[in-house]
Amino acid sequence: MRKVAILGIGQTKVDEHWEKSLREVGGEAAFLAMQDAGVDRVEALFVGNMLSPLISRQNQLGTFFSDWVGLWKQEAVKIEAACGSGAAAFRSALMAVASGDVDSALVLGVEKMTDKPGGEVTAALATAADADYEVEQGVSFVGINALVMRRYMHEYGWKHADFAPFSINAHANAMHNPFARLHDTVTVEKYEKSSMVATPINLMDASPVGDGAAAAVIVPAEKVLRQPRVVVAASAAATDTISVHSRKDPLFLNAAYLSSKQAYQMAGVKPVEVSVFELHDAFTIMAALSLEATGFAERGKGVRLGLENQIGIEGKIPVCTRGGLKARGHPVGATGMYQIVEVVQQLRGECGATQVEDANIGMTQNIGGSGATILTHILRRE
Ligand code: COA
Repeated sequence: MRKVAILGIGQTKVDEHWEKSLREVGGEAAFLAMQDAGVDRVEALFVGNMLSPLISRQNQLGTFFSDWVGLWKQEAVKIEAACGSGAAAFRSALMAVASGDVDSALVLGVEKMTDKPGGEVTAALATAADADYEVEQGVSFVGINALVMRRYMHEYGWKHADFAPFSINAHANAMHNPFARLHDTVTVEKYEKSSMVATPINLMDASPVGDGAAAAVIVPAEKVLRQPRVVVAASAAATDTISVHSRKDPLFLNAAYLSSKQAYQMAGVKPVEVSVFELHDAFTIMAALSLEATGFAERGKGVRLGLENQIGIEGKIPVCTRGGLKARGHPVGATGMYQIVEVVQQLRGECGATQVEDANIGMTQNIGGSGATILTHILRRE
């Protein structure tokens, strides 16, 4: 397999883009990535998206976007893996370029969520869960995560307030990211007083829905002269049972463990060498579980990393450096590509106030469903 590099990146602000259509939001990020890469054509297009058939009544997003951005006749396909769609599209593009099948690819993660009322969006998001055994029982996506968080607090003795640092850190970092959806500071008091969504998950534990797109152009590394060069050091994916109740241990993200283990091996990297980790903090409980499953904390102790100030820009493992899902926002099928774009920004040294000093290895982890599909990527600055 050939070594692959990321030549260009682009993103839109995560927001309620009511004045823009799905094609306009996605097209903007795609054009920005091609402009940043200095190319006007690529050989293939991979689109990551979850909800377009349900929210925008649009399917066939591969051709929909190849048509819109002028990549006529090129191979174009949509990849769906719920909230993990962005990283799944990136991995598919990576395999196409690494195998030598194509010499360049554009990966676009795009989602338009806010054109429909909240209830419809919640129902659409629930299609990532098990329709027969979870959704049919009336549980929503937030509800499933609330059950997991409650169980975690019961098993390990943490209080709700102990999760506050994840939210505070994400919001503090988003203040410096113009592409983030939320620009407000969260304090412990604000966190504790925030309105409840599904006990114990309150508004400050949950990522907001949003419209947004992020994109990257990838090519064989040998073709990249730009300095610093950002290469893909590892890509790995794993799955777990689709329903949480079918797992022997619902408090361990086994697919995160498996995919990160494989990624560490592939890249020849240990957790301690990772400069920045863009994890999937759809809910604060998921941040804690991801840190545990990927080797940054012992079982039941992920929360402690936040309480001990280790997740900030100068901490042992900086996470959500551009706001994470919590404050940058979580336009579900686009999120995995936002994470890739943000790690590229860190490795290029473009993050200003939230730049991690000497960042040279960055990891992303994108989750589809409640820990059901998990993709881990490691990028390296050369
Ligand atoms: N954190 C902080 N503020 C939030 C927020 C969040 N997660 N979600 C919304 N807000 C703010 C909005 O900015 C808005 O502020 P404003 O009045 O100053 O403009 C206000 O709260 C109301 O926004 P609205 O969009 O009406 O919120 P809502 O009550 O309809 O939805 C949630 C809030 C948390 C229920 C919704 O965002 C949600 O369902 N999130 C989880 C999505 C999910 O499950 N994703 C998949 C996970 S894998």
